[in-house]
Amino acid sequence: MAMASNALHHPLHQSISLKYPHLSHISRFSPSCLRFTSLRFPSTIRATSAVALEPELSTQQNQAIFACPVCYEPLIRKGPPGFNLPAIYRSSFKCKKCTKTYSSKDNYLDLTITAGMKDYTEINPVRTELFRSPLVSFLYERGWRQSFNQSGFPGPDEEFEMAQEYFKPARGGLLVDVSCGSGLFSRKFAKSGAYSKVIALDFSENMLRQCYDYIKQDDTISTTNLGLIRADVSRLPFASGSVDAVHAGAAMHCWPSPSNAVAEICRVLRSGGVFVGTTFLRYSSTTPRIERPFRERISRNSNFFTEEEIEDLCSTCGLTNYSKKVQQTFIMFSAQKP
Ligand SMILES: C[S@@+](CC[C@H](N)C(=O)[O-])C[C@H]1O[C@@H](n2cnc3c(N)ncnc32)[C@H](O)[C@@H]1O
Repeated sequence: MAMASNALHHPLHQSISLKYPHLSHISRFSPSCLRFTSLRFPSTIRATSAVALEPELSTQQNQAIFACPVCYEPLIRKGPPGFNLPAIYRSSFKCKKCTKTYSSKDNYLDLTITAGMKDYTEINPVRTELFRSPLVSFLYERGWRQSFNQSGFPGPDEEFEMAQEYFKPARGGLLVDVSCGSGLFSRKFAKSGAYSKVIALDFSENMLRQCYDYIKQDDTISTTNLGLIRADVSRLPFASGSVDAVHAGAAMHCWPSPSNAVAEICRVLRSGGVFVGTTFLRYSSTTPRIERPFRERISRNSNFFTEEEIEDLCSTCGLTNYSKKVQQTFIMFSAQKP
């Protein structure tokens, strides 16, 4: 205890607390952690050099948060401790079983199965690939997302409040914002202080870059307790039953396989954990019957579902307590892991 309180008054600790307030909690003031005070975080930080510089700083904390997307074994982390963007960025993660190593790229940790592959490439459906483009990622919060209001989406502030209501049983836990896009809702969840950790996760590299830029520009958002992860919603890099809340805003219609994704979400949720999603309906109960065949035809190549199909999907994947709110073709639904 004496050592800890001395370290608190250590000039190096005081200077890092002033300069990087979000890092001051990290070290827990053990002597070895004081080495961490000499780290600097330039605007573009490089993971590889950090890992090489400090191989001795392996963590006890957070080892079990991430799991290998190939075999779901917990990943062993090497690097500075703490759950925040710089610490995660400077860490490398290894699966002992697959001997595969995962590290960060452009400020996000890549936990896709294809991470590190050199020759293999895979073609995803257009609805997934569209959001990997730099232009769409740039435009997303600059008009694209606002256009959803025409279909009945209430807008980010109201959608966030509605989701928060559903997430009450998950307060204080780990929230994963799957398909976070540029982080519109991840930032709100992180700022709310309602969760111990928030993970902004998406498949699109460019959305994650955009997400990082918004976080950096926002002085009111602390990067503490916020992680940026690239992953496929159908192969989530978390152990079974380890997540308290999963949010998927305006996302289900973009996934290559919504059924694989919802099954995967159910796998990672703990008992009592909550899933909240929003999407566009193919049509709603108020859509005139004469209009429905037309809507069926135009949505033949996309994953726009009916209210009944979404409820069926959630319950077939093992989720209960299904609830929904519908406005025009906007639906917010919630379901819980029994
Ligand atoms: C319309 S955006 C939604 C962004 C944000 N959640 C919102 O509410 O505005 C859909 C997102 O789904 C992501 N996505 C598509 N396929 C995915 C997959 N297989 N795994 C994870 N995310 C995926 C896209 O990259 C895109 O960022």
